[in-house]
Amino acid sequence: MIDTQLIDLVEKTFDGVIAAAATHLGIPRTTLYDQYKAACASLGRSPRKSKGEKRANPTTSVTDTTDDEGEIRVIDVTGMPTNPDTMMSDRGIDPNIWRVYDLQCRDWTAPIGNGVVAHMQHTKIALHRIAWASEQVCPVTPVAPLPRKKPLTPKSANSTTLIIPDSQCALWWSTDRAKLYPCHDRRAMDIALQIAILTQPDKIILLGDMLDLPSFSRKFLRHPRWKGTTNFVLRELYWWLAQFRLACPYAEIIYIEGNHEKRLPDLIMDRAPELLELRRADATFDDPPAISVPNLLALDNLDVQYIAPLKNGLWLWDGAVHVTHEGPLGKRGGQSVAKALDDATFCSHRVYGHTHKRELAAKLMQEYTGTREVWAMSPGTLARVDGTVAGVSPRVDWQQSVALIHNYDGYIPLPELVPIERGFGYFRQDRIQGDTRVEEIAEAINYAPLCVDEMYDDVGAFEAAFGS
Ligand SMILES: [Fe+2]
Repeated sequence: MIDTQLIDLVEKTFDGVIAAAATHLGIPRTTLYDQYKAACASLGRSPRKSKGEKRANPTTSVTDTTDDEGEIRVIDVTGMPTNPDTMMSDRGIDPNIWRVYDLQCRDWTAPIGNGVVAHMQHTKIALHRIAWASEQVCPVTPVAPLPRKKPLTPKSANSTTLIIPDSQCALWWSTDRAKLYPCHDRRAMDIALQIAILTQPDKIILLGDMLDLPSFSRKFLRHPRWKGTTNFVLRELYWWLAQFRLACPYAEIIYIEGNHEKRLPDLIMDRAPELLELRRADATFDDPPAISVPNLLALDNLDVQYIAPLKNGLWLWDGAVHVTHEGPLGKRGGQSVAKALDDATFCSHRVYGHTHKRELAAKLMQEYTGTREVWAMSPGTLARVDGTVAGVSPRVDWQQSVALIHNYDGYIPLPELVPIERGFGYFRQDRIQGDTRVEEIAEAINYAPLCVDEMYDDVGAFEAAFGS
């Protein structure tokens, strides 16, 4: 090696660190230093002062922290190169419970002694919890399409519409996160299904707030015990809707958006409006957006029509009945529909949900040609009324029922309320017993620890979270 090459190697390649250059050349450090000094002298210059080695710490330092709620975990490794899979497996982290959502990595080289230059790395991963135990993660079973059947016989002039009010489907973890408590009353939902089987309505209208979506609220506290429940809720509500489709294969089923379903588009609008109309590449603009209630519930599989936005509602029998999720609200029983009748300026009957109270009232309107009866009805809720439903006082004044509207050959549509109380429905001369169906649901959605309708194991925490 000529003198200039030797000097460049020592000074430029190894930044004056003789030991590193000597290791590179495979000769003793002192031998190289002598050669370097001689090369400098031959060029009439003095050697650079040896820098000595800045030694990097070859040992690896690790920090591993989890937030107070146990939802986010950050692992920070400085030292030898690694990768997220190794970082997780080294710490026994189950990938069925934690998923990497962010990775930051920075590389550099540094001498680590005896002239060795090491590849160093700072690696940081952020994980988010997707479940609390491996068995909570179940593979998604594709749902089979269950389309509406076309009736073989001509449609009767008489028709019946079944109205199913706010079920507020939601699940709440037990304190040990081994069970999921329902906020919806499965027995009441089963009674609604039995009424559908008995009456074979032409139309079934889901009056909104079938989903509660507590984790998507922008207004109320999003308690950690709601977190990670939405997938189970979607699958369970899909199961219930499929039961209605199976029970009434010829019925038109319409799902009206409630203020709780609207939590999802509201949140999207707030945070990332672009998501609102985002669709799969193979979707048409008639298909529901990717992140939307009709898409998440696979309503097209069941031939269920979704009506949004919230305020629209729908009109039945050429404007004879207006069906919406929201309507006038009164504090005490009967006051909501009384307000609706006070507000009535035209002769359309009204059905609306949201009140969670079982109410029906009528008034005689004076018209130029005579009198005409107008009624207003709110069929209450199918949520639990035993003090365990989300977002409200544990001492709710709610009632359960479903409603029927009969239209005999274009005559005045007549309302009928079917009261439900403590797992029993009272339909004409029959008492119908509701079943939680919990084993069937757990099997269908592939999640065994679904809980029966028992009280929460920590009502105090529930009250603290949601007030009284
Ligand atoms: Fe509502």
